Amino acid sequence: MSNYAQYQDGVYADATNGKLPRLPYHHDELRELARAAMEPGPFGYVEGSAGRERTADANVDAFSRYALRPRGLRPGAETAGDLGITLFGERYPTPLLTAPIGVLEQVHPECELALARGANALGVPVTLSTAASTPIEEVAEAADSWWYQLYWPSDDELAESFVRRATAAGAKAIMVTADTKRLGWRPRDLSRGHLPFLRSQGTANYFSDPVFRARLKDEPEPGGVFTEAVFHFLGAFADKALSTENISRIRQWTDLPVLVKGIVRADEAADLVDAGVDGIVVSNHGGRQIDASVAALDALHEVVAAVGDRAAVLFDSGVRSGADVAVAMALGARAVLLGRPWVYGLAVDGASGVEHVLRSFLAELQITAELMGKDIADLDASDVTARP
Ligand SMILES: Cc1cc2nc3c(=O)[nH]c(=O)nc-3n(C[C@H](O)[C@H](O)[C@H](O)COP(=O)(O)O)c2cc1C
Repeated sequence: MSNYAQYQDGVYADATNGKLPRLPYHHDELRELARAAMEPGPFGYVEGSAGRERTADANVDAFSRYALRPRGLRPGAETAGDLGITLFGERYPTPLLTAPIGVLEQVHPECELALARGANALGVPVTLSTAASTPIEEVAEAADSWWYQLYWPSDDELAESFVRRATAAGAKAIMVTADTKRLGWRPRDLSRGHLPFLRSQGTANYFSDPVFRARLKDEPEPGGVFTEAVFHFLGAFADKALSTENISRIRQWTDLPVLVKGIVRADEAADLVDAGVDGIVVSNHGGRQIDASVAALDALHEVVAAVGDRAAVLFDSGVRSGADVAVAMALGARAVLLGRPWVYGLAVDGASGVEHVLRSFLAELQITAELMGKDIADLDASDVTARP
């Protein structure tokens, strides 16, 4: 069992020797450092959400309505705290993954390469976004453990090419995002007219793709503004007819486990499981798509109940601490994806910043599991209750 909790001892010991931590441990403090480190447009892009941002707030607030029920004297509890999980037949050292986040060139010049270094150092797999700033194959060279997130394009041959490239490069799973047939209404970006894709940002996977390139008259120009390649990207970005039928198509292109991300309803989850998906990611995209949507955490229980043991249910949106991860696991999530917290770590201190955030989450998570008297994979509905 890896000891993530002892990191805490090191922090106190270092401080006693006069070495104080370089970065804070509270999400809100790190976010403020990121705000200072980033340009206002990119910071607004990361922090902002749809509409009045009620969904984003609700995602975070929902965690305050659930409470863990520790039982420290449980028989066998002295060996509790193992963070390992098994997913799709594979053992993972922790239940964390990084959520797919596009356009990282806005955040740090080393983009996905810094992310992969920071996350994989702790055994945390990275989910590479279709809208990444580094092509699949380059990330694959730098990363030991990674999944691939697909924004299903309007051109099926391009979808096939992305899936085949990711599979050939060594992805461990394919995660299709269901909630982004178009971008949500995002006032912070609108007020600044900030859409990074128009400047060719977040297009590395497209501009490096043979199918995409074959559709163009001219070579895509890196950094080009409103070029032919940018227009083609905008037209190809999303398949508006995306449905459960796409699942059988993707099966012809890859043997990897297939998950669908962006689900907040039991009926949709059940349809997807009937269509043969291996996993559901309960998520509302961090509140970036629909204002006044249900908080992701409030949808978790109904999806878990509908899916049962027919597929794995994962979770993201609003997770801000190790204790939040434990709550999501107790409500039935098999693994949890982190979004904005590590993006702020990346903005402030590159790969080390990502590592700092993940190390802190894992230490708090292990301490929480130990105090709950359980290994993380054994948390269940008896370990959580509604906070009165
Ligand atoms: C700046 C930013 C970019 C994102 N890009 C993607 C993406 O390319 N693909 C995707 O499926 N989700 C994307 N998401 C959503 C995340 O994967 C995840 O669902 C969300 O960040 C969870 O919410 P939280 O960060 O508030 O916890 C993005 C989120 C942010 C904040």
